[in-house]
Amino acid sequence: MRRIGILTAGGDTPAMNATIHGAVVRANQLKVEVFGLIKGFNSLFNPRVPHVHLNPLYQEIPEIDPTKGGTMIGSSRDFVDPEKKAELDLIASRLERLGIEGLICVGGDGTLNGLQPLAERLPTVLAPKTIDNGLGLNYPNEPDEWARVKDPEAKGGFHYVHRASQAVFDLEYMVNYVTPGYATAVFVSAGGVERIRTTAESHRRIAIIEVMGRHSGYIALGSAYGRPDAILVPEHPLDLEHLVDRVKQLYDLQKNVVIVCGEGIVDNQGRELGAETKTTDPAGNIALSGAAEALRHKFIHMIGDRYFQLYRRGNSAREAIFTRKVGHTQRGGRPILFDRFYAAQLGAKAVELLLEGHNNSVATLQYDSKKGFYVDGYDANRFRDRWGYIHARHMYPAFYDPNLMKPSRIGIDYLLPIFSDAIGEDDME
Ligand code: F6P
Repeated sequence: MRRIGILTAGGDTPAMNATIHGAVVRANQLKVEVFGLIKGFNSLFNPRVPHVHLNPLYQEIPEIDPTKGGTMIGSSRDFVDPEKKAELDLIASRLERLGIEGLICVGGDGTLNGLQPLAERLPTVLAPKTIDNGLGLNYPNEPDEWARVKDPEAKGGFHYVHRASQAVFDLEYMVNYVTPGYATAVFVSAGGVERIRTTAESHRRIAIIEVMGRHSGYIALGSAYGRPDAILVPEHPLDLEHLVDRVKQLYDLQKNVVIVCGEGIVDNQGRELGAETKTTDPAGNIALSGAAEALRHKFIHMIGDRYFQLYRRGNSAREAIFTRKVGHTQRGGRPILFDRFYAAQLGAKAVELLLEGHNNSVATLQYDSKKGFYVDGYDANRFRDRWGYIHARHMYPAFYDPNLMKPSRIGIDYLLPIFSDAIGEDDME
């Protein structure tokens, strides 16, 4: 292979430029040209395939800065439709005309789904990214646990349900232990939680902090590093009575409470609290808003004004309970050391996989208690369920203790290898 393409797709993360950097550095060593395709899959729909040569004379262009968040070649949530065969043929011929012999996509589960029909036309490899930690498998047979239910309202006429697992779980069998972008998102969220605590303390307030992750509680789980009093994750339906009791207990004790909630938390009917204003993006992903606000309204109603008046904390529950979203700050800015380092390695691995002749492969970050983290390759077909669909990974439910509303022992064991040495000296303020 003499020339390959690279594109970044889906929501940005702090570590995408680091992945591009790792890929280009490795390509330079292997004397392969790299063309960066502008704006994700969108570039492939444009007959001119907007692109930039990232390593003229096998030297990376100076604009590739692995310490900068976002993606220098742009991203979009455009989607390759497997049904549009003519469009796919057109894409393949456009890439061929550019002399591109293999394609690396830096993306998550949506990108990997988009890559499936393209992999039938040219060699492709995915280098993972997503702050949600959603590209991966908690255990190798996880795709077999999905069931499909007819649903005329869902995209494609079906929705998917994840059945209870019978798997014997082992941290070392996780496929793609962690995705670049996750560590930085957790670092920022945990920092936000710590900062909000001081306002909650000073003003005797209850803070509800919403973090991203869609239907996955991994970011919420990691926010434990910011020492919130309770964490709520989408994988465990909300037990409102239990939560309110706990909030009152804590308020009695310390006169402030800090709660973290994942944006995708659900009630005991499985309804998303933040789904009141739900919309979908072009790839069909649900955009959630307002889980924290919805929870605040429930608290106002259940705890009531009188409770706060007794504590001489103003006149109303409305004043005492506030919400904040960490929002896109958890997705932007400088990647921390863990993300920079492994994102670059995964970019390099993606190049190697292509050159070794793999097709429809995924560069993964594996964990072994003896050798630590190492990069590997995994066949993308093994991520597919029996209907061919690749699902976003959700947090492994046992990582969370629903009674304590905190990471469980095994959840802590999961987080430790990532965060024990994740931050470089120059990452701190
Ligand atoms: O998938 C990454 C993610 O940041 C989710 O955690 C979040 O729900 C979504 O993207 C937000 O998307 P957008 O930036 O398009 O609003």
